[in-house]
Amino acid sequence: MTITIRNLTKTFGEKDTASTVLDDVSFSVESGEIFAVVGPSGAGKSTLARCINLLEQPTSGEVIVNGDSLTQLTSDGLRQARRRIGTVFQSSSLLSRRTAAANVALPLEYLGATKAATKARVAELLERVGLGDKADLYPHQLSGGQRQRVGIARALALKPSVLLSDEATSGLDHAATDSYLSLLAELRTELDLAVVFITHEMETIVKIADRVGRLDHGTLIEQGDLVDIALDAQSALGAQLRSPGRATVAAQNTVAVSVTYASPVVPADWISRLSAELSTPIAILGANVKSVNGVAVGDITVGVAADRAADFARSAKSLGLEPQSEPSTTLTKVSA
Ligand SMILES: Nc1ncnc2c1ncn2[C@@H]1O[C@H](COP(=O)(O)OP(=O)(O)O)[C@@H](O)[C@H]1O
Ligand SMILES: [Mg+2]
Repeated sequence: MTITIRNLTKTFGEKDTASTVLDDVSFSVESGEIFAVVGPSGAGKSTLARCINLLEQPTSGEVIVNGDSLTQLTSDGLRQARRRIGTVFQSSSLLSRRTAAANVALPLEYLGATKAATKARVAELLERVGLGDKADLYPHQLSGGQRQRVGIARALALKPSVLLSDEATSGLDHAATDSYLSLLAELRTELDLAVVFITHEMETIVKIADRVGRLDHGTLIEQGDLVDIALDAQSALGAQLRSPGRATVAAQNTVAVSVTYASPVVPADWISRLSAELSTPIAILGANVKSVNGVAVGDITVGVAADRAADFARSAKSLGLEPQSEPSTTLTKVSA
């Protein structure tokens, strides 16, 4: 299963008022893969999303799912074809006068599913996104993160093979964003979805994308494997991925661990000491450390071999450093 966007162009207006919002955009996403499209506001991301799910007719080019060109279809076929692509939009796209369950039921009702079948499917979907007990609540009674989970459940109602997410984490706090991202990552594996993840937030793609493309003024300037781009000294997107304050991508089989200076007596050479003690390389991935009255404060993110992370955490603690969280495997590709 693959979704292919081929030479997609979208022009609004005519003659002297014509403006080309998407210009010859091409990419493919395999099932089980997450392709992120990143770009600034106005780059054409939402137009791309609406062309992919066929809410908007592309001016030229094709959207091909499982070998079928959806852009060639007439209205009857189109209605069928749309079911293969589920979309999660930016927050608040739920109907406010419908409960969570009734929102998820919407696509099934349009399809003419029986009441019993709809009820069973909705319950199963809400359960899967962790909202089994929130079925009868209205959107305003849910948090932003919960609303986006309802959005995912609704997008999956008709068992699509492609999931499209357009700015779905915009406006969510850190915790809600992370929980949305991990749900998405789980579901793509579970359901073998091809995911097109559209965002302007650079830090989210580092956490979730397998491959990434940068859209600027309607053109997909560069695209490739996330790790390759992050390691590419020539890539503008790579520079953004590496820039300070952003989570950093590390090499294979390496996990990122953040540690905080939790004692005034952490030895200055603690990294080389631990590296020697554990006989394993320790790479600095990012640091935010300053001196306060001669004492180092702040945190450092290091990359260590996945199978040494627990030892590293233990030894770091003994030197006065506090590991902040479980080693993050979401930043890196750890082979199973
Ligand atoms: N229906 C439309 N008619 C004319 N221009 C549009 C239309 N939809 C979007 N645009 C223009 O296309 C450009 C890209 O918009 P959009 O796809 O929403 O970007 P993004 O989602 O990356 O912020 C903007 O300049 C916007 O004004
Ligand atoms: Mg947009």
